[in-house]
Amino acid sequence: MNKSTRKAIIAGNWKMNKTRPEAKELLEAIKPLVANAEGNVEVIACVPFTNLETAINTTAGSNVKVGAENVHFEKSGAFTGEISADMLAELGVEYVVIGHSERRQYFGETDETVNKRLLAAIGGGLKAILCVGETLEQREQGITEEVIAMQTKIALQGTCEKCIKNVVIAYEPVWAIGTGKVATPEQAQDVCAFIRKTIAGLFNQEVADGITIQYGGSMNAKNCAELLAKPDIDGGLIGGASLKAEDFNTIVQAAVNG
Ligand code: 13P
Repeated sequence: MNKSTRKAIIAGNWKMNKTRPEAKELLEAIKPLVANAEGNVEVIACVPFTNLETAINTTAGSNVKVGAENVHFEKSGAFTGEISADMLAELGVEYVVIGHSERRQYFGETDETVNKRLLAAIGGGLKAILCVGETLEQREQGITEEVIAMQTKIALQGTCEKCIKNVVIAYEPVWAIGTGKVATPEQAQDVCAFIRKTIAGLFNQEVADGITIQYGGSMNAKNCAELLAKPDIDGGLIGGASLKAEDFNTIVQAAVNG
């Protein structure tokens, strides 16, 4: 399978950072730097809910797409503090991060609620960036593949061959997030290849060959090229380094040149 037939996606996950003026400033700085990323390389900024409208207005007419960081699974109703897929789609949001490990860790997210959110997102016309990843303890116990298979299979329950085209998978080992402890390119490649194999088992090889699989976890301007050169790593979900225009652009350019 030629990697160039898949879309490379470099997405920033801003997490709980940036006020609206700060968001505008960062996006204005990013836009001209990444303007050459066309065709097979997609650039996304996943921003806090309060920044979505600013981000959409600031990136209008550019190649930077906007994503949210979470979505609720119900269409509407008495769910104080939650945001629905319809609300995001109506704003012009294109992507949404689902099942990030910080949501699993701090906000009681389970494989089952991740599945419900993913179905609600793609049902509402959004594209999902599904996050999966093992903890350090799980890796040390030698159950990384079991954990990844379970998270992937449960999250994708009820999806079909057609709608899976609106799903991107991000492999984010929990022990590498925000720790500066990046997975080696080989470790990241092995798990991304395993995710692709899992997708082939759930659907077929053609679907598996077409799905974009990102790596996330302390990816930065220094280590990105080596990671992105691996055959099954199709992009990155970037936390800390996405908050600096130059660093984020270096990662985008590594995808453009890769
Ligand atoms: P860092 O790049 O800050 O490690 O965060 C990765 C991440 O969680 C992206 O979703």
